[in-house]
Amino acid sequence: MNTVTLNNGVKMPQLGFGVYQIPLEETAEAVYQAIKVGYRLLDTAIAYGNEVETGEAIQRAITEGLVTREELFVTTKLFIQHVGEEKAMKAIDESLERMQLDYLDLFLIHQPYGDVYGAWRALATAQSAGKIRAIGVSNFDTGKLIEFSHMNGVAKVQVNQIEVNPWNQRLTDEAYHEKLSIQMEAWAPFAEGRLDLFKNETLSKIGKQYGKSVGQVILKWLMQRGIVALAKSVRPERMAENIDIFDFELTVEDMATITALDKQESAFFDHNDPERVEWFMGLLS
Ligand SMILES: NC(=O)c1ccc[n+]([C@@H]2O[C@H](COP(=O)([O-])OP(=O)(O)OC[C@H]3O[C@@H](n4cnc5c(N)ncnc54)[C@H](OP(=O)(O)O)[C@@H]3O)[C@@H](O)[C@H]2O)c1
Repeated sequence: MNTVTLNNGVKMPQLGFGVYQIPLEETAEAVYQAIKVGYRLLDTAIAYGNEVETGEAIQRAITEGLVTREELFVTTKLFIQHVGEEKAMKAIDESLERMQLDYLDLFLIHQPYGDVYGAWRALATAQSAGKIRAIGVSNFDTGKLIEFSHMNGVAKVQVNQIEVNPWNQRLTDEAYHEKLSIQMEAWAPFAEGRLDLFKNETLSKIGKQYGKSVGQVILKWLMQRGIVALAKSVRPERMAENIDIFDFELTVEDMATITALDKQESAFFDHNDPERVEWFMGLLS
């Protein structure tokens, strides 16, 4: 498995397995299968409601000798109810407890709303105490990321997890992440299949040259851009397919052909859209 090195020296696998929207009763088995197939980066969140099941799968894989804790890289995220220093401190300890872990490899602020500065102080304190190896944010647009990096005053941002897929490629954002030495991590690399992504003729034609699927081409394109990518599937055969991408290379021409697919807009929603922000705030009541 390829790794990237974060700005605090921590190594992170470049391809990971996400557990968003996996039915609760299937999560532990899916995470266990993912580890068995070779995934080492696992991505959950308090908001997904499945930290317990993710933790159970990790414990099972360790007990059965499939992996050691040190070989895994486990991420979770604080949701909007947990921003603010005190609430975040408590939430961090609760996540560790739910996941039966002594430390998390990466803890992110899930959404760019509320007292993210307070939450950041809590994450930095937990990082200094050895409870978290790397800290970061998610869904921060580049303007906010620049401001937050310069103003938080306590710790470097290691990762920003944002939507990146062929419809929303974030090329300008990528340049700023590089400038700030912040690792870009892609959520929904397949745009959850929106706008028939898996049937796209351009991607399919590129894949045929190498005997690879559309999903494999997309993940390889992200790897070659230096982006960490999270793929999700509940099907073991797709988990295996998605990780089988380290035996071919896309050419410069292939990469340029994919660049031409960019619509430069979210396949989901804009985090600054007032209606969407209102929707998020509604979750607090
Ligand atoms: N930070 C955030 O705000 C945020 C937001 C969204 C997601 N995430 C993270 O990113 C991870 C991935 O994003 P996502 O789950 O939303 O979407 P995604 O990975 O883009 O797409 C997942 C969908 O693609 C299907 N799929 C997977 N591999 C496939 C293949 N090889 N061929 C055909 N279909 C395939 C899956 O179906 P099956 O399961 O049926 O195979 C599922 O419906 C999440 O699990 C989560 O950890 C973070």
